[in-house]
Amino acid sequence: MYDWGLKNRLSRVIKSDGKTVMLAVDHGYFLGPTTGLEDAEKTIKPLLPYADALMPTRGIVRTSVSPISETPIVLRVSGGNSILDEDLSNEGLTVSMEDAVRLNAAAVALSIYVGSQNQKETLLNLTKLIDEGHRYGMPVLAVTAVGKNMVRDARYLALSCRIAAELGAHFVKTYYCDGFEKLVKTCPVPLVMAGGKKLPEYEALELTHNAMIMGAAGVDMGRNIFQSEAPVAMIQAVRAIVHDNATPKKAYELYLSLKKSKKTGKQAKVKGITASAAELSRH
Ligand code: 5RP
Repeated sequence: MYDWGLKNRLSRVIKSDGKTVMLAVDHGYFLGPTTGLEDAEKTIKPLLPYADALMPTRGIVRTSVSPISETPIVLRVSGGNSILDEDLSNEGLTVSMEDAVRLNAAAVALSIYVGSQNQKETLLNLTKLIDEGHRYGMPVLAVTAVGKNMVRDARYLALSCRIAAELGAHFVKTYYCDGFEKLVKTCPVPLVMAGGKKLPEYEALELTHNAMIMGAAGVDMGRNIFQSEAPVAMIQAVRAIVHDNATPKKAYELYLSLKKSKKTGKQAKVKGITASAAELSRH
């Protein structure tokens, strides 16, 4: 049974409806200045009010997020690799639990690389972090990373998610795949879906909807939000699916309407779902 502090932190990330819209902005830890995050502060600021949690590195927290922000931080605490590496799995822990607490993190996140050269090290990093997490009341998010040449199929991802949960991760982030419901059914902790590469907005909303109807606890989405033509409209459309059970069609209408209203200054209206309803569901 988790301690009160850990439960309290987790409840700041996964809201009372059991769902979350996390905004991933940690890409730079191995990708450097990722498209859309070149000026991280400028990108993050307008999106923060719509994110249930933000997933940055500590460098981005300290330089680019206002300390008066109320959005919980899920802190990326693994790294040491870069996109120049042939094998991305060579990751270690990059942040002490003490610094995560100092940053008032609501959870910490690290990647595991099941089936890679560094499988054992990344899994032992996970267990070390979980032991420390229990000591400090800090939930741990395991990210099932895939190496450059690995297949993202249900068999592989279910294996990774289950191993993460068996080792004690409090929640798990993984990619969408055919048979996603298998991942959800065999993973005893909440599963959030990573967005992956930028897709046309409607497709990204469909992906979100599919994951949600298959039992995901939400999304931890980055590029499909901050690389969108209208990131603030897009995150609200994603929220409408995650928290308000909107269909992809309704959510896309909301996206288009919010995108247009930004240009015209008129309030966005979509029958059956409004931007303000999406906003209200945040709390
Ligand atoms: C990389 C990560 C990133 O946070 C995540 O994958 C980025 O989100 P997206 O794929 O939606 O851009 O954990 O290991």
